[in-house]
Amino acid sequence: MITIKWSLCLIFCISNSVLVIAKDLCLPDQRDALLEFKNEFYVQSSYEMMSYAKTEKWRNKTDCCSWDGVSCDPKTGVVVDLNLEFSNLNGPLRSNSTLLRLQHLQSLDLGNNYLSGILPDSIGNLKYLSDSMGNLNRLTDFQLMLLNMSSLTYINLGFNQFRVMLPSNMSSLSKLRFFYIRENSFSGTIPSSLFMIPSLTWEQTTSAVLLRLVIYEKK
Ligand SMILES: *[C@@H]1O[C@H](CO)[C@@H](O)[C@H](O)[C@H]1NC(C)=O
Ligand SMILES: *[C@@H]1O[C@H](CO)[C@@H](O)[C@H](O)[C@H]1NC(C)=O
Ligand SMILES: *[C@@H]1O[C@H](CO)[C@@H](O)[C@H](O)[C@H]1NC(C)=O
Ligand SMILES: *[C@@H]1O[C@H](CO)[C@@H](O)[C@H](O)[C@H]1NC(C)=O
Repeated sequence: MITIKWSLCLIFCISNSVLVIAKDLCLPDQRDALLEFKNEFYVQSSYEMMSYAKTEKWRNKTDCCSWDGVSCDPKTGVVVDLNLEFSNLNGPLRSNSTLLRLQHLQSLDLGNNYLSGILPDSIGNLKYLSDSMGNLNRLTDFQLMLLNMSSLTYINLGFNQFRVMLPSNMSSLSKLRFFYIRENSFSGTIPSSLFMIPSLTWEQTTSAVLLRLVIYEKK
């Protein structure tokens, strides 16, 4: 009798755990948003040693949470981290990008790609974003969306081609600890509101006309 019970349990318990392992964490809306985001860019060949096309192996009907560069919340399955640094992505970041459907993103890294055009305001709708990196792209405008992103603690937009002025009132970015916008061509002066953000410290500033500023996280 005991043996029968155990063998039943063996079959039942094992098949149960197989089911658990096979369960796909990926949510269909997140998967589709990622696949469409992938198609917003073309993949440029690059001689950069560290670069490879992370998105190329993204395939429908596989678990998007296991895709290269994608991390999901283990409980809910929403995408929380997208790291597409050095992925040879070429094209503009669209204001209607399906990236905006990844509403739970906390960390976004699009650094070291070939993104061009403006950084759309709509990125400001990603309410949970706390880390954002887009350095070494060719983004050329910088809009007010930043001010809406009050949860941001880390911004790296260095080595782009931003030419506009920084917004005059940046006090909404009260949690900012790291703000790196070096090697751009910002015009105007550094807004005094930036000095007021308690978690930031200044590392280096130069000309008021051509700002090259680096602000490092307070130790
Ligand atoms: C992925 O596959 C599903 C199921 O076949 C389909 O409904 C969905 O539209 C596909 N997504 C994309 C982006 O092709
Ligand atoms: C998004 O905007 C681009 C132009 O920037 C346009 O070609 C495309 O059709 C738009 N997509 C949607 C889904 O609205
Ligand atoms: C900031 O957020 C508000 C409300 O969510 C929205 O109406 C406004 O257009 C946003 N502004 C920018 C510049 O993104
Ligand atoms: C700056 O913006 C904050 C909210 O983001 C507001 O409370 C404050 O009054 C503004 N300060 C100035 C000088 O406009």
